[in-house]
Amino acid sequence: MNVLLLGSGGREHAFAWKLAQSKHLEHLYIAPGNAGTANCGTNVPISATDFDAIKNLVWEKNIDLVLVGPEDPLVKGIHDYFLQDDVLKEIPVIGPKKDGAQLEGSKDFSKQFMFRHGIPTAKYKSFTKDTIQEGFDFIDSLTPPYVLKADGLAAGKGVLILNDSQIAKEELQNMILNAKFGQAGNTVVIEEFLKGIELSVFVLTDGKSYKILPAAKDYKRIGVGDTGLNTGGMGAVSPVPFANDAFIKKVEEKIVKPTIDGLVKDGIDYRGFIFIGLMNCDGEPSVIEYNCRMGDPETEVVIPRIESDLLDLLEGVATQTLHQKQCIISPELATTVVLVSGGYPEEYEKNKIVSGLQHISTDSLIFHSGTSLKNQDVVTNGGRVFAITSFGKTIEEAVSKSFKTADSIDYDKKYYRNDIGKDLMNWDK
Ligand code: AMP
Ligand code: GLY
Repeated sequence: MNVLLLGSGGREHAFAWKLAQSKHLEHLYIAPGNAGTANCGTNVPISATDFDAIKNLVWEKNIDLVLVGPEDPLVKGIHDYFLQDDVLKEIPVIGPKKDGAQLEGSKDFSKQFMFRHGIPTAKYKSFTKDTIQEGFDFIDSLTPPYVLKADGLAAGKGVLILNDSQIAKEELQNMILNAKFGQAGNTVVIEEFLKGIELSVFVLTDGKSYKILPAAKDYKRIGVGDTGLNTGGMGAVSPVPFANDAFIKKVEEKIVKPTIDGLVKDGIDYRGFIFIGLMNCDGEPSVIEYNCRMGDPETEVVIPRIESDLLDLLEGVATQTLHQKQCIISPELATTVVLVSGGYPEEYEKNKIVSGLQHISTDSLIFHSGTSLKNQDVVTNGGRVFAITSFGKTIEEAVSKSFKTADSIDYDKKYYRNDIGKDLMNWDK
């Protein structure tokens, strides 16, 4: 099969690395890709949201299947674009149509979906400029902290957690009346604060059956000890020690099954990945959010733990034969440590020459997140630059390999968190 993978991050490098091992793969194209994906297939310099250019590429390269990495093209309707086109409509797209992508694209939609289908989640209400006064009253009715969420996509920044009711009201006003998060904040979801520990569960579905993929925990904040600003993710661990079989069974019964059934009941034909952000509240799972894609950097620990042929699984999604496929998961533990550009998640510089990649130890997988090729050099091209994944019998063993590899790679203003997995190391002891 000829496969086109859309996206350019560490998630896409992990997908590309895995797809390149498939016995079903003829050729892999990545649009636009990065310096790492160039080692797994052919990068094509077109944007993942340039649907017309993608159409030409699919036609020219005889693409048999398209895997969509990021949410943007899905929320903008790439799958629908394919279905509406006489040339493209037979080519399977892995990733939901616009309706299913709303699970991520609209917090209000996803909360309504969860309540409609009895899926555990925080209580909430949504407000617009016409109901802002009710929003103030709702804040007064809650106990702090207050959780305010812009309804639409806001590059991971649209959630505010505030302790002071006056500030919460000001921020509600900033979001709705002053467009703090642009149009994404025209509607704001205010919800109850959930106390617990977070993890993510990933599901692959063909719209009828599903496979539960390994769970992961990511480290969202920039600073050691989970301090400072939120990022896309600074590292991840899989499996998650506090998500034992009994907990995952609960997640399956209370969340995964009702989600898949709910999509069917709502007439949403969903084929792709569902990323379920969960809070473990004293052993009871509650959904924080859905995403219509895999996580980054979670993919960099989840995909390497899948022993089965990924392309075979994706074919199962495309032909709705996923129930006939096997998804074998390695019992080994994986950690990933993200190397970022100094300054990230705020202003940072690009085009720093990366050295040390030629001495790569076989102990780690180096997934490129934000790199490009300039002449013969690999240069930095994003806030998150690499995700370094290692395996081990324990978190200590895996993460120390990742740190060692992280130290052997160099570029100006390199930074990483040296405490990835630390909070989980003594979980069972
Ligand atoms: P979201 O974009 O909905 O995943 O929210 C971003 C982050 O805010 C989550 O990963 C949580 O850490 C936190 N968060 C969101 N909703 C809640 C909630 N209801 N209670 C506690 N923390 C939350
Ligand atoms: N690491 C969180 C995300 O991919 O949204």
